[in-house]
Amino acid sequence: MCGIVGYIGKEKALPKVLSGLKFLEYRGYDSAGVAYIYDNEIKITKEVGRINSLEKLLDLSIPSNIAIGHTRWATHGEVNIINSHPHKVGKFTVVHNGIIENYLKIKEKLQKEGIIFKSSTDTEVIPALLDYYYQKENNILKAIVKTINELEGSFALGIICDDDKNNLYAIRRGSPLIIAPSNDGIFIASDIPAILNYTNKYILLNENEIVKLSKNEYQIYDNKLNKIIKEIKIYEGSQDDAMLNGYDHYMLKEIHEEEKVFLDTFNYYVENNKFKDTMPNFKKYQNIHIVACGSAYYVGCIAKSLIENYANIPVYASVASEYRYQKNFYDQNTLVIIISQSGETADSLEALRKAKNDGIDTLAIVNVAMSSIAREAKYTLYVKAGPEIAVATTKAFLAQTTLIALLTIKLQGQNDLLKEFIGLEKHIRELLNRNYQEYAKIISKSNNTFFIGRLVDYALCLEGSLKLKETSYINSVAIQAGELKHGTISLITDNTLVIGICTKKDISSKTISNLKEVKARKANIIYITNEFIEDNFYDQIILLPKVNDIVMPILTVIPLQLIAYEVAKIRGCDIDKPRNLAKSVTVE
Ligand code: F6R
Repeated sequence: MCGIVGYIGKEKALPKVLSGLKFLEYRGYDSAGVAYIYDNEIKITKEVGRINSLEKLLDLSIPSNIAIGHTRWATHGEVNIINSHPHKVGKFTVVHNGIIENYLKIKEKLQKEGIIFKSSTDTEVIPALLDYYYQKENNILKAIVKTINELEGSFALGIICDDDKNNLYAIRRGSPLIIAPSNDGIFIASDIPAILNYTNKYILLNENEIVKLSKNEYQIYDNKLNKIIKEIKIYEGSQDDAMLNGYDHYMLKEIHEEEKVFLDTFNYYVENNKFKDTMPNFKKYQNIHIVACGSAYYVGCIAKSLIENYANIPVYASVASEYRYQKNFYDQNTLVIIISQSGETADSLEALRKAKNDGIDTLAIVNVAMSSIAREAKYTLYVKAGPEIAVATTKAFLAQTTLIALLTIKLQGQNDLLKEFIGLEKHIRELLNRNYQEYAKIISKSNNTFFIGRLVDYALCLEGSLKLKETSYINSVAIQAGELKHGTISLITDNTLVIGICTKKDISSKTISNLKEVKARKANIIYITNEFIEDNFYDQIILLPKVNDIVMPILTVIPLQLIAYEVAKIRGCDIDKPRNLAKSVTVE
């Protein structure tokens, strides 16, 4: 999704803004641009494609002390230089992350006033509206308030004005934005990695808070322009979190952090085989709705299996983009759980708000501290994955799965199963150190791959299939093993690749029967299991350690992630930034 970085201070702004933008590349983008003040003029440079291409157009040695930069992930209007940010109308230059839902109405109104628009973006109405109100108010802060009162949708904005070349303005609603004071100046940014090269101090802005920044100070206002003081937070991770540290890709680095992520998450909630106070009691809830998007939704599917089996509580797992519009049946004993790595996914956030509006208790399972979902939910449980930079989630998935297993035990009300976590990190390490090249080579040649499994294994099939699709662009389908013969089996012919996942002993014979059915159609089978059987229905086997079902999914996902990585590498794909994808989907 779009990324914003701005700097105002004593040092040269352009190198800092570009460095920050590079750390936001993981969010996904298709063009980039900067606006800076030099020679008492606002200059704008934009380019389609990577930040490196933009950098080539800029002279970084220019002594400009104010700059705002942007990476754009196109939503309204095609990918081209005109539609890239910053956008300037009249005296206002703006970078924007989010979507303005009522932009057509505003555009029409302003066109009637004689304002001419150059781009097809929703964003351009923002500087136009700022300029319109500034002409009436002659006061930048008042113009900002009037503008945001008229905007519907989500936005984080960095703003500079021709009439005030000593200040930079910022505001957020719905989209994330932080302010980060450093020794030589102050930053605005969409996310913490952008500023870690310069400072570990940051301030989280709440909805509709406005900031005016100058070289060495900042003032925050609410939307009535009352001054407010906010706590400065210290980012506790290290700068290394946002660095490759010798790995070829963030995806590989993050997968290799999974042993630590597992231990950090487990130890945050458990000590001496008992839950700590960090895990609240959810005993009163008799039915659970889990709502999330993409991989986080697949964690929700794992949760359904585990919670229903072990805690005997009915669980309905839904994707957030459906949940927010469908009819939901709940009562005062319903808990709505939102799972989200970023804590900013627009559909998940709206689903949370819908449940809250209906008076239902909500629990957020989130990685990014103090993100919108974390802040708005009644309860928040953090997973301890640390910053995840690669667009495709890996370590956050493992951390969420770990936390779901812990939550299941908490809901069950007995601590016995906590012992199943002890020593699991050794299995994680062993799986991380295996070589998956031979499987990756086979998969990289296939244009169509089928993942089949039942119940919790089906949830892992969904994740394995998504990971493969998004990183290596190989079409793949996940299907419940028993459902195959109701249609999809017609696609299975000579050498069709089928990956069967089977880790639940009580239903393994059923999945094996389904694999034999595809073998009879000459499929090529990779069998992923925790129980070796000598039979001839598979061509390759990945034998997983045998552990209790409650923790098994934590292990099963690891080969799926590493295989997807290896396949993407063989196929020369842009592993950390797959095409068309954004890390944090803050638009509907
Ligand atoms: C896939 C992936 C996405 C996210 C989804 C939800 O690898 O990363 O499917 O899981 O966009 O994002 P969060 O968890 O940030 O709400």
